[in-house]
Amino acid sequence: MDNVRFGIIGLGNMGSHHAKMFGNVKNATLAAVADNNPARFAQFASQPGIKTFERWEDMFASGLIDAVLVATPHYSHVPISEAAFARGLHVLCEKPVAVSVKAARHLNDVAAKYPKLKFGVMLNLRTVGMYTKLRELIAGGELGEIRRITWIVTDIFRSFAYYASGGWRATWSGEGGGVLINQCPHTLDLIQWVTGLKPSRVTAMVGIGKMHPIEVEDDVSAMLEYSNGAVGHFITNTAEMPGTNRLEIAGDRGRIVAETNKISFSRTRQSVQEYNQTTPEIFAHMESWDIDVPFDRSSDGAHWKITQNFVNAILRDEPMIAPGTDGILSLELGNAMLMSGVNRTSVDLPIDGDAYDRLLLDLARKYGGKKNLAANANATMDFGKSFGR
Ligand SMILES: NC(=O)c1ccc[n+]([C@@H]2O[C@H](COP(=O)([O-])OP(=O)(O)OC[C@H]3O[C@@H](n4cnc5c(N)ncnc54)[C@H](O)[C@@H]3O)[C@@H](O)[C@H]2O)c1
Repeated sequence: MDNVRFGIIGLGNMGSHHAKMFGNVKNATLAAVADNNPARFAQFASQPGIKTFERWEDMFASGLIDAVLVATPHYSHVPISEAAFARGLHVLCEKPVAVSVKAARHLNDVAAKYPKLKFGVMLNLRTVGMYTKLRELIAGGELGEIRRITWIVTDIFRSFAYYASGGWRATWSGEGGGVLINQCPHTLDLIQWVTGLKPSRVTAMVGIGKMHPIEVEDDVSAMLEYSNGAVGHFITNTAEMPGTNRLEIAGDRGRIVAETNKISFSRTRQSVQEYNQTTPEIFAHMESWDIDVPFDRSSDGAHWKITQNFVNAILRDEPMIAPGTDGILSLELGNAMLMSGVNRTSVDLPIDGDAYDRLLLDLARKYGGKKNLAANANATMDFGKSFGR
């Protein structure tokens, strides 16, 4: 094979974007698309070479495609991906690969049964130059052992109108959560991929429908514990303006701040721990150098780069930037934050998948359909008061 024939499933915001991006991807063609809303096919009216299907099952059976790009709402990712593997198709799935860790573990087990088929996840921020450089610096030992990781992600403002724009959005039954499952899979993935560290315990505060009349979480503050003694903080909400996106990592050789597409590294002259133990000064201050770390700004996190890498993996076994099995990383962390915040207790990782699925059902029963934008057009926000508490 020297060309991969793709089928996209789901032609909403993201699927339509992927369809346009195919012009950039070498050795691949968009052969077919599927959406259960045929109104979405209008955009392909002038491209008769692209076959349209109302049922993805029919597209799978058509023999027209070698690989699928799954861009439907979250809950359908696992059943569609599983069916694609069974049909002998390579799978590139949008994030999140699933809604819960249990479902993601299941999908990873299924994928393992098809070692000849590639499985990728659209974690396109792994191609952003700032993050690839950070990962390289940390893996190369430039920062020394990590002591603290703090990420504030509040540059993801979403209005009432946004939440009103899609029936499945911001519901337990349609989306399976709020900011943690929709806006944060990328950062929850990067906080682990960039640092090479996975937290061992999470303690979080979660606000459900706190800043918007929605039934899911829109405000999260979490503390992370790591087995090497490091601590982490992850702060996010969808209602701050102007927002912040600041990743600060302190290590034994200084501090790195990644913010506004800039990496600032304050590098200490020697190991902080060694200095701590040996300096005779009681109010000591070690010399450090401030460096603006250069990185490739053309690697802008474009989705097609993940697709190109996926194609290269199929055609010549290129190592994958975002293997599908890594999709579980952000779920482990996001699920743990939600569980911790709702139950008001610390949660050890890896989490109990059955317990999380029960929690999701409880949340759907308790809050499902109770708040919606149509019914709350003039709602005032309950700042400081989480819904249902
Ligand atoms: N990687 C990223 O940067 C990024 C950005 C935005 C969204 N996403 C992800 O992309 C996915 C889709 O999000 P969106 O914003 O495009 O949603 P959307 O609601 O705009 O589009 C979903 C589309 O799927 C179709 N669909 C639903 N169920 C279907 C089924 N069973 N069979 C066929 N078609 C079906 C709908 O008709 C719709 O056209 C989500 O998983 C989301 O998290 C990823």
